[in-house]
Amino acid sequence: MAESTPLRQIKPAKGILEYLAIRKIRNDNRMFMTADTKKISVFHQLMFCWFMPKDFSLYVCTEYGKVVGYMLLRKKQDTYLITEAVDRRYRGMGIASDMIQFAQLLCKRLAADILNTNIASINLHEKMGFKLKIYTSYKKTYVWESPL
Ligand SMILES: CC(C)(COP(=O)(O)OP(=O)(O)OC[C@H]1O[C@@H](n2cnc3c(N)ncnc32)[C@H](O)[C@@H]1OP(=O)(O)O)[C@@H](O)C(=O)NCCC(=O)NCCS
Repeated sequence: MAESTPLRQIKPAKGILEYLAIRKIRNDNRMFMTADTKKISVFHQLMFCWFMPKDFSLYVCTEYGKVVGYMLLRKKQDTYLITEAVDRRYRGMGIASDMIQFAQLLCKRLAADILNTNIASINLHEKMGFKLKIYTSYKKTYVWESPL
């Protein structure tokens, strides 16, 4: 019997097509990022994915096999810095919540740097149990720690 693709899957990013889909979502949302806000070229994206530094892990969320969001985790000592973005056609469907929940099963401590103007992301992280730790006139740093 043929294996069907699950409706929603979160998994490590793999292969050129997924890397390019991540680039598209990243470039469409770069104005929401707190670091490296310039657009990424195809070459830059492929080099990053193929030679990813050991402290980074990149995940995709797919719906019926189509990449609809991505999540990047960067390990810094005992904390993983988390960034996520969802294709705008698929927002409001719990995709970012599912990706964060996935990270919460993998990591004991997560931190997110969020622009003060990014209300959707602030609400999202507060809903997922993150607490405000540091505040500047530009961005807020939210932290989540596993209760276990
Ligand atoms: C922020 C973002 C990742 C949310 O993705 P999403 O899949 O739509 O989020 P979810 O459907 O899981 O929503 C979970 C919660 O987030 C909050 N939220 C999401 N979108 C929101 C919006 N437009 N306005 C206000 N709150 C919002 C709500 O609290 C929501 O819970 P609710 O549905 O019970 O109200 C998405 O809007 C996005 O990709 N934005 C651009 C990139 C970005 O800002 N990334 C974060 C960088 S720190």
